[in-house]
Amino acid sequence: MKFGHFDDKNREYVITNPQTPWPWINYLGNEDFFSLISNTAGGYSFYKDAKFRRLTRYRYNNVPMDSGGRYFYIKDEETTWSPGWKPCKTTLDKYECRHGMNYTSIEGVKNGVSAKVLFFVPLKTWAEVQKLTLKNNSSEVKKLKIFSFTEWCLWNAAADMENFQRNFSTGEVEIEGSVIYHKTEYKERRDHYAYYSVNVPIKGFDTDRETFFGLYNGFDEPQVVAEGNPTNTVAHGWSPIASHCIEVKLQPGESKDFVFVLGYVENAEDEKWESKGIINKTKAKETIARFDTAEKVVAAFDDLKKYWDNLLSIYNVNSGDDKLDRMVNIWNQYQCMITFCFSRSASYFESGIGRGMGFRDSNQDLIGFVHQIPERARERIIDIASTQFQDGGCYHQYQPLTKKGNNDIGGGFNDDPMWLILGTISYLKESGDFTVLDEMVPFDNDVTVARTLFDHLTVSFDHVVNNLGPHGLPLIGRADWNDCLNLNCFSNDPNESFQTTENKSEGTKAESLMIAGLFVIYGRDYIELCKKMGKSDEANRAQKEVDSMIVAVKQYGWDGEWFIRAYDYYGRKIGSEENEEGKIFIESNGWCTMAGIGKEEGLCEKALDSVKERMDTEFGIVLNNPAFTKYYIEYGEISSYPAGYKENAGIFCHNNPWIMIGETEIGRGDQAWEYYRKICPSYLEDISELHKTEPYVYAQMVAGKDSFKPGEAKNSWLTGTASWNFYAISQFILGIQPDYDGLKINPCIPTKWDGFEITRKFRGATYQIKVENPNHVSKGVAKVTIDGNLYKSNVLPLFKEGTTHSIVVELG
Ligand code: BGC
Repeated sequence: MKFGHFDDKNREYVITNPQTPWPWINYLGNEDFFSLISNTAGGYSFYKDAKFRRLTRYRYNNVPMDSGGRYFYIKDEETTWSPGWKPCKTTLDKYECRHGMNYTSIEGVKNGVSAKVLFFVPLKTWAEVQKLTLKNNSSEVKKLKIFSFTEWCLWNAAADMENFQRNFSTGEVEIEGSVIYHKTEYKERRDHYAYYSVNVPIKGFDTDRETFFGLYNGFDEPQVVAEGNPTNTVAHGWSPIASHCIEVKLQPGESKDFVFVLGYVENAEDEKWESKGIINKTKAKETIARFDTAEKVVAAFDDLKKYWDNLLSIYNVNSGDDKLDRMVNIWNQYQCMITFCFSRSASYFESGIGRGMGFRDSNQDLIGFVHQIPERARERIIDIASTQFQDGGCYHQYQPLTKKGNNDIGGGFNDDPMWLILGTISYLKESGDFTVLDEMVPFDNDVTVARTLFDHLTVSFDHVVNNLGPHGLPLIGRADWNDCLNLNCFSNDPNESFQTTENKSEGTKAESLMIAGLFVIYGRDYIELCKKMGKSDEANRAQKEVDSMIVAVKQYGWDGEWFIRAYDYYGRKIGSEENEEGKIFIESNGWCTMAGIGKEEGLCEKALDSVKERMDTEFGIVLNNPAFTKYYIEYGEISSYPAGYKENAGIFCHNNPWIMIGETEIGRGDQAWEYYRKICPSYLEDISELHKTEPYVYAQMVAGKDSFKPGEAKNSWLTGTASWNFYAISQFILGIQPDYDGLKINPCIPTKWDGFEITRKFRGATYQIKVENPNHVSKGVAKVTIDGNLYKSNVLPLFKEGTTHSIVVELG
């Protein structure tokens, strides 16, 4: 069942039934100011950091689901309704929500009146702009009252939910004209306030929540709206809100626009006040003035559209398959950008207070995003590397506001350092900017111990070399990529977190085959980089380490039919035929086959055949099999989940692409494609009632074959799934790979495809590539022509900036 449809021309998903199986959301903003918005206008806004600078309040896991947001109540005689259906839930004559690239437009129609709200964060602006257009399509004069609504969060989203003995006494607002200012804590240590304005005179306002709703009403029936009159309350403590009331008279056929601005301001210490107790409103007024007419809003909206036109013009495929094209050209790239902005901090599954910017996550996010704005990837790499320790180890995350690492969600994950090599190499290959390697980058944010970024890569590489276990394989530490495979935790206390509890690493034999594969791949990248930089001694040293890792994997990591997953604390195998449960895992088989370990001896093919046989399902590849059915204290969190969910045999979409890429390594394009299609959301649109999450973005996990409801997705939006799937489809299936000195073309496609076309902008030039498949093969480049001339290699050269070239590639 569908709840809407794709509009590819406008790059929108159009929701026509507000009762989606789960709130289907979108993100506004892409630099400093952000909002989450659901298809019924639920959600919240924040500046940079969803934990420390939360502007508006949102209650997660509420009843009903997704209550709270920026709402409009329209009072038309006895009927009160909302354009997004919620919160009033009055049946609408028409409802339509269009989620687009960093904007959402929601339209409701009731009794001849249409109300359409466009929500977006203009470029370089610390505010969400809401343009409400009311139109009277009836033959009568309409006299309406509009009430806006938003609820202020007292800045620190965590404290806002717990410290009520203080919170209920601190709230402060100011009202001037049509602007409501939220200034809680501004008089002491804060240098910031928020505001909510509208560009017309108002009939009145309310800022005291209790008065606006009445103590016993919900969002659906505010007392003030029911009575039809604002009461001009000024909040003192309790829970400040912002609501404007506007009276509107519309002649038949007439339409009117109203512009609301929800913004954020920071003032320097000596510029905080206009007069005693009265905040300096200059900056707020400047921003409000930038959007005080509908025309100005439309112009800013056009700029945003152009910004996205440009970003999405860098990689564009025409395959003849709408579902594929819309993912590659629009939604997957969009999700990569969003994931890059937020890491794992704020979604409808991430509360914005639990997690910040992950070390491994952000590096992986880069690979899906770096072609869009390489400069921002550069900055991110430096930010991430600045939190690293001198021995190459890492904090697992940092908060975006301070950019300082913290141990809030644990530390000592031994895969973390290797991802920095992936992130940096991806940036280098896309941009050709080697100067980044000479940047002086602190350790643990301490500038007195700064070393070059290249040195950070060396310590990353060495962190694995210096932490090998009894089989010469990498020690796992707290865990590797799989946060839940906690081999050194032995936790039997339900009050402690698997991630932060003490790690019993003394005497451990816990080794990871996943890190081994990771080390071989990014170790090779490191070696290639050393060679490019003329550091041949370092390259030779590193080569020896990579070679011995390959030997160790073949000797101790091969189980007969697949790669084992790990050795536990005691040195016993995990992910082996010997085990009763968890005989085979996706991660080690993905990484060791991507690395091509034992390819000549047929190990990769065998391993991938075993993956298919044991872990492939209708909805994707499960993480492990058989699922764990009891708690294994020596494995930790992985066995805490019910079978078929999350890391315990769920379809963890993040790592399905590792198998896809492994398949392309051995040339099996049909299989790689089948795996791609199975988890790709646009192909699942027809089963939205089962899939549950948005059909335009990937979810982290789809319930696996052992679960209660196979095929049901959870945790959409912020997941490494976005970048890895884009990486797999764009670089390994369609096969367009940025390289140091050119663009490599190496597709691995289904045999039945006749070919496809790609436009790729790379280092300032445009490559118009036509791939032809006359012999219906999967892989292998038989012939390349550039502008009609035969070319000797499948690595296309760099062209002069601003030029366009036409390339024909024949497979065979
Ligand atoms: C985390 C990743 C982790 C993955 C598997 C995600 O929720 O953000 O860092 O690799 O789960 O455990």
